Amino acid sequence: MLKNFWYGCEFSSAVTSQPKQIVMLNQKFVLYRDSQGQVVALKDQCSHRGAALSLGWVEDGCIRCPYHGWKFQADGKCIDIPANAPETPIPKKARIETYPVQEKYGYVWLFYGDLPEEERPPIPPFPEFEDPTFNQIFLELKYQTHYTRCIENTLDSAHLAIVHAKSFGAGFRQDPRVPDYQVQEENWGISAKIKYANFTKPQNIFKLFFSPSYTELNTKTTFYLPNITKVEVDFVRGKMINYAIHLPVDENTTITKRIQFRNVLKQQWADSLFVKSLYKSLNEDRIVSESQYPAVIPDSLSAEVHCPSDALPLAYRKLRQKYLAMGWGLKSNNCQSNNFNSHLEQHSSTLVVK
Ligand code: FES
Ligand SMILES: [Fe+2]
Repeated sequence: MLKNFWYGCEFSSAVTSQPKQIVMLNQKFVLYRDSQGQVVALKDQCSHRGAALSLGWVEDGCIRCPYHGWKFQADGKCIDIPANAPETPIPKKARIETYPVQEKYGYVWLFYGDLPEEERPPIPPFPEFEDPTFNQIFLELKYQTHYTRCIENTLDSAHLAIVHAKSFGAGFRQDPRVPDYQVQEENWGISAKIKYANFTKPQNIFKLFFSPSYTELNTKTTFYLPNITKVEVDFVRGKMINYAIHLPVDENTTITKRIQFRNVLKQQWADSLFVKSLYKSLNEDRIVSESQYPAVIPDSLSAEVHCPSDALPLAYRKLRQKYLAMGWGLKSNNCQSNNFNSHLEQHSSTLVVK
């Protein structure tokens, strides 16, 4: 897990004036909206006796702890201790750590790290978000594995014909080979364009877009540090773009928060068909990803065997190693010491459709 990046940690629509616990990077955070609608992010651990502030409530833009009612401002300062006489000074140490947040592309982004504002890597562009020619659906799914495996799964082209043989991957049935491709450098990331010449009629909703029975498929897959993938598919009659933020919850849990854009069948009634189809494919991936051992991708590049179609996942491993070598890695053994015991089962698979 890497520090010094913006983490899209929740859909904007899911953050309200009701405090919400977010578990990521082996830690607990609390998000809420103040009276102006601004999102506030704090460590979800009271400085008094460690209770989860996310079980408390928002009052005048501040958050009250559910245990002894201490009241904390959005900047983390404690301004009220109900058990104290009014003139009793409030200890300076009674403050909560806060985090920079911004809202963009339908997500709340939290910066986790120690870089000053001007040195922070940017949030990558999601140009389709403001483009009215695209429709969008939001969706999330939980995986019992390390987020690095989920990222690699999305960057991996060779599995499409196999894992998705009963869904969209059926189109690769006659030609499962992955054409040679080059890995390109992107701003804070990498990408690869792959052109499939013989994609045949698949078995799900996508078959509606295929006449005659086969087509050319132009794809571009991009990875942005630290945990974002973008898969663009141009099937001549339309385009589909899948963004995924692979949220590292802990060493064995990932939540992917996705937006899928499409410029075909844009009617709202079709949304549920696309949600269903995406869930089917993602669950096909999930079963295989959760079976991988070890859960985290190996540190050594030689620990697993690679072939030419693995060029993009391999480039991801190298990029990740570069940032770990720079000292941007977070220790994985801080689960107990750093407020990790979550009180909520909020991350069961839930669906958000807009
Ligand atoms: S634990 Fe929060 S006020 Fe006591
Ligand atoms: Fe897949």
